[in-house]
Amino acid sequence: MADKDPVSIDVAPRSPRFFGRRKGRPLRQSMKRRLDEVLPKLVFDPSVSPNIQFGRHSDCFLEIGFGGGEHLAGLAAAMPDCDFIGAEPYINGVASLLRHIDEQQLGNIRIWPDDVRLILPTIDTASLAGAYIMFPDPWPKRRHAARRILQPALLDQLAKIIRPGGKLVLASDEPTAKSWLLQTAILHFEFVWTARRPADWRQRPADLPETRYMKKADRAERQSSWFQFRRCERYAQTTPKGNPKNMTDKR
Ligand SMILES: C[S@@+](CC[C@H](N)C(=O)[O-])C[C@H]1O[C@@H](n2cnc3c(N)ncnc32)[C@H](O)[C@@H]1O
Repeated sequence: MADKDPVSIDVAPRSPRFFGRRKGRPLRQSMKRRLDEVLPKLVFDPSVSPNIQFGRHSDCFLEIGFGGGEHLAGLAAAMPDCDFIGAEPYINGVASLLRHIDEQQLGNIRIWPDDVRLILPTIDTASLAGAYIMFPDPWPKRRHAARRILQPALLDQLAKIIRPGGKLVLASDEPTAKSWLLQTAILHFEFVWTARRPADWRQRPADLPETRYMKKADRAERQSSWFQFRRCERYAQTTPKGNPKNMTDKR
C-alpha cells in the first residue's frame, strides 16, 4: 500500500512556485552579520497586523520584489510618517536593503524575505495605502507568461488589501513587460490608470526614487515607463468568475 494519502496531498495548501534566484554571490561578513542579527528583528510577521508591528496607525505601503532595496529605502526615508513592507526572496537583495536601513537609520520598514504571494492572503482588507511593483522580471517569452508576477489573481489580492483610493505603481523598461503590466492592470475593473498625458508614464514621477534596474535601463538607453493606478473608491461586487456584477465606482 502506498504510504502517502492522496487526499491529504490534494487538499494541502501549495506554495506558489518561484522561478527567480534566491542566492547570488557569497556575502561579505558585514552582510551576513546583518542577516543573522538585524533581519530577525525586522521580519514582517504575517500573523500580526501591520499597525501593531509598526506600533502606530500610519499609511502602509508594500513593495513587491524590492531587489537591492534602493527604491524602498528611498521611499521610507522620504516618508517617515508612513510604513513599508518589502518582499524579496533574493537574499543578497535583502542583505543590501539591511545595509540601506542601517546607513540611513530607517525605522519604518519590515521585510518579508520570501515570495510575496505567501503573505498577500494574510494582509487585512483595505489595510494598505498602496503597492509598488518596480521593474519586475519580464519573462518576455510567451510560454513563460505564467511566471510574470503580475497576474489577474495577484491583482485581485492587491485590490482586496489596498484601500479604496490607494495606489498601485508599476514600472518597467522591457517592451513585453510594459504591455503586460499595462494591459493586465487596465483590464482589472478595480484599478483605474491615472495617466492624462504621455509624460505621466514616460517620466519617472518626482516622488519615486530610482531603482537599480531603472539605472541599468538608463545606461542601456532603454526607455522606462511608470504606470500609476488608483484603487477604485468603492468595492464592486464580483461574481465567482471575478466579473463585475454591480459596479459601484464611476471611473
Ligand atoms: C528585475 S528585479 C527588479 C528589482 C528592483 N525592483 C529594481 O527595480 O531594481 C525583480 C525582482 O523581483 C523579485 N521577485 C520575483 N518574484 C517575486 C515574488 N513572487 N515575490 C517577491 N519578489 C519577487 C526578484 O527576486 C527580483 O529581485
